[in-house]
Amino acid sequence: MQNEIHPYYQDTDVVPFIHDQGIAVQAWYPLGGRGRNDELLSDPVLASIAQTHDASISQVILRWDLQRSVIVIPGSSNPAHIEEDTELYQFALTEEEMAAIAALNRNEKHDWY
Ligand SMILES: NC(=O)c1ccc[n+]([C@@H]2O[C@H](COP(=O)([O-])OP(=O)(O)OC[C@H]3O[C@@H](n4cnc5c(N)ncnc54)[C@H](OP(=O)(O)O)[C@@H]3O)[C@@H](O)[C@H]2O)c1
Repeated sequence: MQNEIHPYYQDTDVVPFIHDQGIAVQAWYPLGGRGRNDELLSDPVLASIAQTHDASISQVILRWDLQRSVIVIPGSSNPAHIEEDTELYQFALTEEEMAAIAALNRNEKHDWY
């Protein structure tokens, strides 16, 4: 199942419900969506977590998805970003960091379908 999922739209009810049915969940717009993610990719909470792990904000967002068992296929036309977006296993977010990202949820959908 694919649905819009990023820190500003976390789908907190739907993700565990779908997982409970034994169905995999994939994030649509994992980085907030092309042309719509300036604020997300400069969020100060995410920037602080990224700095702690010597990672980028994109990597923190994608790692947060993986730690809640959400599949990510970020879009990029930049080879450096594509490489960066695959390097998600050299750090792990703590429970406190996962909670800090959970608190960023705004139910702010970036697209309607
Ligand atoms: N089912 C559907 O109808 C549907 C529709 C739309 C999207 N989707 C899904 O959504 C995903 C991709 O959508 P999307 O590309 O619009 O959104 P996205 O993955 O949320 O965001 C892509 C944007 O993030 C930037 N980005 C990627 N990696 C970055 C990095 N490391 N640092 C900074 N910026 C970075 C990209 O810019 P650069 O190119 O400069 O890296 C691009 O502007 C796919 O899984 C796709 O299947 C599905």
